[in-house]
Amino acid sequence: MPQLAYVNGRILPLADASLHIEDRGTQFGDAVYEVCAVMNGHILDWQPHLVRLRRNLAELGIVLDIADGPLTLQARRLIAANGHAECIIYMQVSRGTAKRDHAFPGAAPANLVMTVRRFDFAQRLRQLETGIAIITQPDNRWGRVDIKTTGLLPNVLAKQAAKQAGAFEAWLVSGDTVREGSSTSAWIVKDGRIITHPTGTAILPGIARDSLIRLAREAQLVVEQRPFTLAEAMAADEAFLTSTTAPILPVVRIDGQAVGNSTTGGKTGPIVRRLAELTWNEVARQTGWRA
Ligand code: PDD
Repeated sequence: MPQLAYVNGRILPLADASLHIEDRGTQFGDAVYEVCAVMNGHILDWQPHLVRLRRNLAELGIVLDIADGPLTLQARRLIAANGHAECIIYMQVSRGTAKRDHAFPGAAPANLVMTVRRFDFAQRLRQLETGIAIITQPDNRWGRVDIKTTGLLPNVLAKQAAKQAGAFEAWLVSGDTVREGSSTSAWIVKDGRIITHPTGTAILPGIARDSLIRLAREAQLVVEQRPFTLAEAMAADEAFLTSTTAPILPVVRIDGQAVGNSTTGGKTGPIVRRLAELTWNEVARQTGWRA
């Protein structure tokens, strides 16, 4: 079955799906996006993704002329048409197609595209055992990274640096503060306390991050939303990352140095294991998916 995509109300083969070359997403990065996980045919955390999308559109003054109900139906329709029970759905809304001019065009309607890709979530459970390595990179993004725009060049370069170093992710560091990963939220654990950068304008408010804070607190674990330094991360008992495509993964090396003390160092720690159990139980509760 060919891959299918959604473009402004039509579902068509991915190979035939396109936007005009003067789409403002291409020319200016004038577009926002969401990535959602689909497991067992159900979209995880759909409502929070929708809320974040609407907030981002409002922040940028992009008018998307489709209400939540029909948008939900179209997303579900595309997922069903592609026939993958485990996949990710990518949704992108640009300000529209118009003659190139920095200021907003008058009457161009927004362009909405959606694609679906098969995704192996079970690999994330296997990676829970091995853990992953990260490197650090300077955070040289703009000042409103809370808005999920397609202007991701610094993230792309940081991720490529990680790949070249044989690492899974790059944590973006500003001054001595760890903000987040190039496409994931960053966390450390010290003396039983779970620490992550506060929301605001310096990080993307991750949906997986939000969900983990709620689950951890419900389980009587202590979560602190405060900036932490690279030195703190290096001295942490455990570290991990979260995102839609990596619901929770232990970080066992930072810039080549093992995370944790000499006995547990470089291995998945007990708090991350507990959080992973809570996370995957929540996935099962929402979607019925189990590895
Ligand atoms: N990335 N921080 C950044 C910079 C991100 O791009 C993402 C998501 C996250 C985690 O957010 P969430 O939990 O809502 O996925 C944090 C997506 C997956 C991407 O760009 O592919």
